[in-house]
Amino acid sequence: MLLPQAKESKVNENLSNKMALGKSIKMYLTIFVATTCIYMVLYQYHMSRQPLATNELVKPPLYIITPTYRRPEQLAELTRLGYTLKHVLNLLWLVIEDANKTNPLVAHTLDRIGVPYEYLVAPMPEQYKLTKRAKPRGVSNRNRGLDYLRANATEGVLYFADDDNTYDVNIFEQMRYTKKVSMWPVGLVTKTGVSSPIIREGKLDGYYDGWIGGRKYPVDMAGFAVSVKFLHERPHAKMPFKPGYEEDGFLRSLAPLQNNEIELLADECREILTWHTQTKKNPAALPFNQTRYGNTNLAFIEKLLVRP
Ligand code: UGA
Ligand code: MN
Repeated sequence: MLLPQAKESKVNENLSNKMALGKSIKMYLTIFVATTCIYMVLYQYHMSRQPLATNELVKPPLYIITPTYRRPEQLAELTRLGYTLKHVLNLLWLVIEDANKTNPLVAHTLDRIGVPYEYLVAPMPEQYKLTKRAKPRGVSNRNRGLDYLRANATEGVLYFADDDNTYDVNIFEQMRYTKKVSMWPVGLVTKTGVSSPIIREGKLDGYYDGWIGGRKYPVDMAGFAVSVKFLHERPHAKMPFKPGYEEDGFLRSLAPLQNNEIELLADECREILTWHTQTKKNPAALPFNQTRYGNTNLAFIEKLLVRP
């Protein structure tokens, strides 16, 4: 049996033990919190000093110049191309219509797709519109795109993407790092079935295309990209209003350009990642019968039809 005095000292001892335990828990907690804070500060400092990480996040911008014009297929073509471009980062889509004013239906379609875009107009000059011979399609549109880039862009890469072609998204990542001009094959062009640079022993050695026509660069519009910096170094470069010679004329206007400065993409031109698809032409929609269908849903969708 413990004496009352001994009992009291036992209680005191328990109390001081508990206080000591409380103190050490507090101490460990403080050390833990302090270490975590120091670790977080060091980690943030380390991350902020990583140049590669930021470079990977911000890729060089791509400027996709798409000529378009009013016709029944227009919104379908832009929708298909737009959702392809939606897979590509840091891209500005320059949609340029061969018209005197913009069309709210096109703007609505572009808004719905949600790819960053500029919607501009650049009509074909009257003299070409009236000709019975081949017309220089999409030329004023593309030159308008070049003017836009000269005024608004400093770096990155430009590419002429017609609204009716087919594009594998891989080609966009490959063209993004073009130093001057890059090239690659385009399927469904002329009787050869493909238009492509010819690579022999690792070097550009001419072009394969069903129609050469005395061109220095017998390539399709979908088969090359150009660096924006390089475009700035060639302030007079532009596309001629010369049917069949638009690509050749533009590439020639980038002179001086050595053959060994042309980068060969798509696995050194062994792959086809772009196609010159052509859509079947559709007749204009019949006029809407307001009396018969005015109070139905058709009154809404007939407003969405692009009539030439
Ligand atoms: C082929 C080439 O792929 C084009 O790059 C080239 O401009 C054209 O030939 C040509 O040399 O005339 P193709 O499929 O025959 O193209 O022509 P389209 O697809 O009808 O037109 C090319 C681009 O210009 C399209 O993006 C189209 O929307 C646009 N375009 C066409 C206009 O802006 N206005 C027009 O009157 C016709
Ligand atoms: Mn086409």
